[in-house]
Amino acid sequence: MRNITLIKGDGIGPEITESVVKIIEASGVEINWDIQTAGADIIEKEGTPLPQRVIDSVKANKIALKSPVTTPIGKGFRSVNVQLRKELDLYANLRPCYNLPNIKTRYDNVDIVVVRENTEDLYAGIERQVDENTAESIKIITKNASERIAKFAFDYAVKNNRKEICVVTKANICKLSDGLFLNSAREIAKNYPQIKFKEILVDNCCMQLVQNPNQFDILLLPNLYGDIVSDLCAGLVGGLGIAQGANIGKDYAVFEPVHGSAPDIAGQDKANPTAMLMSAIEMLNYIGEKDAAKQIKIALFDTLNANIKTADIGGNSTCSKFTNEIIKRLKVLTPQY
Ligand code: NAI
Repeated sequence: MRNITLIKGDGIGPEITESVVKIIEASGVEINWDIQTAGADIIEKEGTPLPQRVIDSVKANKIALKSPVTTPIGKGFRSVNVQLRKELDLYANLRPCYNLPNIKTRYDNVDIVVVRENTEDLYAGIERQVDENTAESIKIITKNASERIAKFAFDYAVKNNRKEICVVTKANICKLSDGLFLNSAREIAKNYPQIKFKEILVDNCCMQLVQNPNQFDILLLPNLYGDIVSDLCAGLVGGLGIAQGANIGKDYAVFEPVHGSAPDIAGQDKANPTAMLMSAIEMLNYIGEKDAAKQIKIALFDTLNANIKTADIGGNSTCSKFTNEIIKRLKVLTPQY
């Protein structure tokens, strides 16, 4: 049996985690979940929102499935997500965005993969209050990290039969930092003549995405633009409730939905577990459980096609009903279990 770290998170985290664990169990894949808690709730007991035991667990198991953790806005502790990505050197944030069945959106056939650098940029957390009226944040971009993420994007493109990579920056304004990111991508692109390479400024990219998203294949971005643009892409295909993600490094991988802890709907059985489930499907593919991943995806798509959907994507199903409907279909698909 395979050991995988499971970080339950907070807000809607526990609800969607329970849903996904039940679905994976019903698929017949045997996982020994190493359950870890992180975030605000444990600060009092353990003095930190990200105890060393969480990092040690991922280091031991190599793979984690993580649900969202709240980060206080404008005050309080540093994001657990950012810290975890940094501690484990999960340098690539991979966010595939494509239309799912029976979810009505403005555009059909969107199929964009957002590759976001995950360890530096303004997320380095170097901020200071200069004086009462001035605050300062430092944006760090290095050649190593920029080349590494560009190489990841190109290798991903080759492996997944993609045709084009578009690097997104604001190098006309941030000439040195974004300029370094752009130049690094240009250099790496030379090694992959079979992949078309394009460049765009982030403001134009956002406008193009909402007007004609089908023109894009893979987007390669520094951390902050990647964070924002991937939510925009999630919006194009039906919203955060369905947007999957993965944080990948040389040694470890943490799979998690793009969305946050959604405190506005927490504890009400309203959350859409699809984003977490799609992330888990990618995790199953990653660990070689390809049949189970495929069956779960079929059961999920059948459920959506039967018009059983949560409220965020135009339905009236609860999280638990939606989960049970997927499991029902999965049991028909995998009668051996
Ligand atoms: P959010 O993603 O939690 O919610 C934005 C909107 O989308 C809300 O209206 C919410 O109800 C809806 N939504 C999100 N996920 C949904 C789902 N699965 N089903 C149905 N509706 C869903 O973003 P927000 O409100 O800006 O952030 C809340 C907290 O989450 C913050 O503390 C933030 O720092 C944290 N966060 C954590 C992340 C992580 O752990 N990886 C990522 C993003 C935010």
